[in-house]
Amino acid sequence: MLLLERHLDLGLALFSLRAASEKDMPSVCALLESSGLPASDLLSSKPILIVACEGTRIVGAGGLESFGSAALLRSVVVTPELRGSGLGRTIVRELERIAGGARIGQLVLLTQTAQHFFERQGYRVINRDNAPRGVQGSEEFRLLCPASATCMAKTLAD
Ligand SMILES: CC(C)(COP(=O)(O)OP(=O)(O)OC[C@H]1O[C@@H](n2cnc3c(N)ncnc32)[C@H](O)[C@@H]1OP(=O)(O)O)[C@@H](O)C(=O)NCCC(=O)NCCS
Repeated sequence: MLLLERHLDLGLALFSLRAASEKDMPSVCALLESSGLPASDLLSSKPILIVACEGTRIVGAGGLESFGSAALLRSVVVTPELRGSGLGRTIVRELERIAGGARIGQLVLLTQTAQHFFERQGYRVINRDNAPRGVQGSEEFRLLCPASATCMAKTLAD
């Protein structure tokens, strides 16, 4: 992975972004579950996972599950008390940077609550059936996100 630890000053506090390690998984899963996002496939699907930290505390996360030239953008989460400070946008931008470096051209996601957040980051609603086949085969698509979830996609610039 290309990610180096990055230090971010979002005005309220200092955060760092880094690749997740195995010992981060319980905190990341707890954050996902308390925010209503799937966590049961996090270990088995082996996404590229990044975490945002305030000191040693994990306050955000996001992941990419790659399928050839497309990837599922998943598990984007910020702890409730820090939402609205720009951290979610920063996590998405970092994942897009990592995807670009890995020659991934299209990112696809499913969301039940954050359509407007992702629209602001340039994602557009697509029909779930038009998502790349590999992404449709992911556990999140097949088993974990309800059919009512909104499917969105973004083509990354070269
Ligand atoms: C979605 C989420 C990650 C956004 O994180 P955040 O740190 O609050 O977002 P930011 O502060 O970076 O917001 C970026 C912009 O999106 C807007 N925004 C954030 N959440 C939004 C929401 N749910 N609906 C509409 N707009 C939203 C912000 O107002 C901000 O607008 P601006 O561009 O005018 O400044 C966070 O709300 C969250 O963890 N939600 C629960 C988990 C979830 O649904 N994840 C997505 C599924 S993968």
